[in-house]
Amino acid sequence: MKWFPKRKSKIKDDYLLALDIGTEFVKALIIKIEDNSEKIDKEKKQGSVVGYGRERQSSGNMLAGAVADIDGVVCTCKKAIDIASSIARVKPKRVVIGVAGEFIKGATTSFVCKRSESEKDIDSAEIQNIIQKIQHKAFNKMRSQLAWETCRPEIEIKPINALLTEIKIDGYKVTNPLGFQGNEIFLSVFNIYAPLVHLRALENIALKLNLELISIAAESYALTKSSGFNPISGAIFIDIGGGTTDIALVRQGKIEGIKSLSLAGRSFSKRLAQSLNLGFEEAEQLKIKHAYKETSPNVQKKIREILKRDVEIWLNGVELVLDEFDQKGSFPSLILLCGGGSLLPDIKNILNRESVKKKWSDKFSFNQNLQTNFIKSKHISNIIDKTNTLEGSEIITPLALAGLALDIASSEKTIMPSILRRTIRMMRQ
Ligand SMILES: Nc1ncnc2c1ncn2[C@@H]1O[C@H](COP(=O)(O)OP(=O)(O)OP(=O)(O)O)[C@@H](O)[C@H]1O
Ligand SMILES: [Mg+2]
Repeated sequence: MKWFPKRKSKIKDDYLLALDIGTEFVKALIIKIEDNSEKIDKEKKQGSVVGYGRERQSSGNMLAGAVADIDGVVCTCKKAIDIASSIARVKPKRVVIGVAGEFIKGATTSFVCKRSESEKDIDSAEIQNIIQKIQHKAFNKMRSQLAWETCRPEIEIKPINALLTEIKIDGYKVTNPLGFQGNEIFLSVFNIYAPLVHLRALENIALKLNLELISIAAESYALTKSSGFNPISGAIFIDIGGGTTDIALVRQGKIEGIKSLSLAGRSFSKRLAQSLNLGFEEAEQLKIKHAYKETSPNVQKKIREILKRDVEIWLNGVELVLDEFDQKGSFPSLILLCGGGSLLPDIKNILNRESVKKKWSDKFSFNQNLQTNFIKSKHISNIIDKTNTLEGSEIITPLALAGLALDIASSEKTIMPSILRRTIRMMRQ
């Protein structure tokens, strides 16, 4: 029976776990990495969801999108993973954990490097050297920004994801600079950082769950990478969860930044509970009934009135976040919504209100008429749902995370991402 454990571990290697640790729910997706040896594009991996589990967080487990009680979160994760494993009949060993919230920061840094020997072929040592310089410049800039925003100069952050968004040699765009010659190299890198204390908490959670952590990924970044929308026209991605609204801006095919707002679905339920003197759970259920128009028109009107002010505050918050992005170019006119909180009809209604569209168009010079849509599971192109259960806006972020997990697994062998990853690993130590 010697073959049995060997085969078992091989099977597990073909599976990945995408774990979205949200403020309201933990969602676990088990992905089977499909064999694409027959496909033309062997680099692009496809995956199938073979198990899904969701478990509500206990109160106090999470604060502003970050872990507040490690053991509490481990317990919730275990339950979600067990549900997913019982459907998939397999328990993966490797995990990608998604993070979101106000402490996750992303920004683009560009760097021009003049070459002393323009006729020498660019090699990986030269690129590695430039990337290290960019990464240190980006890191110092982000650390001072976060220290200023939080008034805590001692805050320690670490990079979690990086993406080369643009490479040019003497003004010409290339995807891989190795082997080219030229006078100057321009590199643009998008980096995402998280506070060290949060990263350590997530590493600890993976350890307690007996899982090998292959990556921690910013969920907004996963959405922009996996949702398959036309990258050139760009989009504003808004994930409205329970505790946080996470916003990512993609302009001219490049991700520019991710920002977050601590106002989302939970705040609306709390307002209903307070105004109608209900318990939180009751208010939550009433809100969901309202969303599905399962209440009488009178009750709907009353709920709309109660939530009116909070929805406006939410909108102002989103406006402030958009204000923080670079205002030089025009903004993409497409808003893409996901996350359970986006299902509140009042959200889409306010974004579609003519007065809001007019105000925002004047302020942000959108490139076309502002349009709001929902991201659907079919848009996550490299993931197929084999459970036939994955519907609704709250599943989009974990699906995008699964899509990114596959990308991470398949880009392990490509040269440019591996140079970036090496630099990040060095900076994480
Ligand atoms: N049909 C609905 N209408 C309105 N709100 C909804 C609906 N379904 C879910 N929600 C709200 O969505 C929120 C949960 O969404 P989601 O599962 O995306 O959050 P999360 O990922 O756990 O949180 P976060 O992203 O903030 O960490 C809850 O506040 C819930 O009330
Ligand atoms: Mg979420």
